Amino acid sequence: MVQETQLSASNLIWPIFVIEGTGRTETISTMPGVERMSIDLAVTAAERAVELGIGAVAIFPVTPVAKKTERGDEALVAENLICSATRAIRQKCQDRLGIVCDVALDPYTTHGHDGIMIDNTIVNDLTVEVLCKQAVLQAQAGASVIAPSDMMDGRVGAIRTALDQAGFEHVILMSYAAKYASAFYGPFRDAVGSAKNLGGASKKTYQMDPANTDEAIREVALDIQEGADIVMVKPGMPYLDIVRRLHDSFSIPIAVYQVSGEYAMLRFASQASALNEEACVMESMLAFRRAGADAILTYFAPRVAEWLEKG
Ligand code: PBG
Repeated sequence: MVQETQLSASNLIWPIFVIEGTGRTETISTMPGVERMSIDLAVTAAERAVELGIGAVAIFPVTPVAKKTERGDEALVAENLICSATRAIRQKCQDRLGIVCDVALDPYTTHGHDGIMIDNTIVNDLTVEVLCKQAVLQAQAGASVIAPSDMMDGRVGAIRTALDQAGFEHVILMSYAAKYASAFYGPFRDAVGSAKNLGGASKKTYQMDPANTDEAIREVALDIQEGADIVMVKPGMPYLDIVRRLHDSFSIPIAVYQVSGEYAMLRFASQASALNEEACVMESMLAFRRAGADAILTYFAPRVAEWLEKG
């Protein structure tokens, strides 16, 4: 009766990794329990998400190395993995599931960066032009939420305009507004195969400095002004103070991303019997909600939903 914070499956967004082929799965050594899957199996996973009452899936494509280029051209191919997966899931699940598509070039570039690189520098405005086209293609495929994770300046406004002009006024924009240049993304880069391409390079010229909190306020204020519907904080647990500050400063829905490194910590510690997995994961979910997050992106989503069902 007096519990201040509640968690339900509808708060959850489940990030999934999609590969080419049919009937195929691949394990990810740094993320035990998470598998890359071909589109047919992603559709099955999406149906399971609907059954469990999960709010949305977020699709991340694992682009074959042969299709990666300096400019990330595959991002603008209408039949690429993310668009094909979106189309297949939309067809099967209709409007019973949200589909989040990530906008950024890192799954498609040979250097693994989120933007176009010229002379070792990420070129902001040129990248934004490509991101706008990428977003429209994803909306055409059936995305309900477009989520720019690239952290280029001015991309939220530009993408909003591009979507509106293409007739997608109803598509939600969830911006990775306060995305830190974090070391906790390591396992994700293994999962999508961008770690090798990055080769130890950092994204510090466009992602945020972990030392900063006022900057998060500025970034979010800009994104709201530019038309974001939901703003995201990422990573999650090490940045709960940011979630809380944003919640107190703005009246806009907040999403938080419990990233791959956080998943790995909880998972490996549980496998080693150092932690009780269910108890710790559920506690982390409550912590996100308590800090002020509405939506939680987590690789634990289906298991959290099952734990909630079991009660
Ligand atoms: C890249 C992107 C990243 C994640 C989501 N989108 C990694 C990065 O910025 O290098 C990380 C997610 C995770 O670690 O779980 N656009």
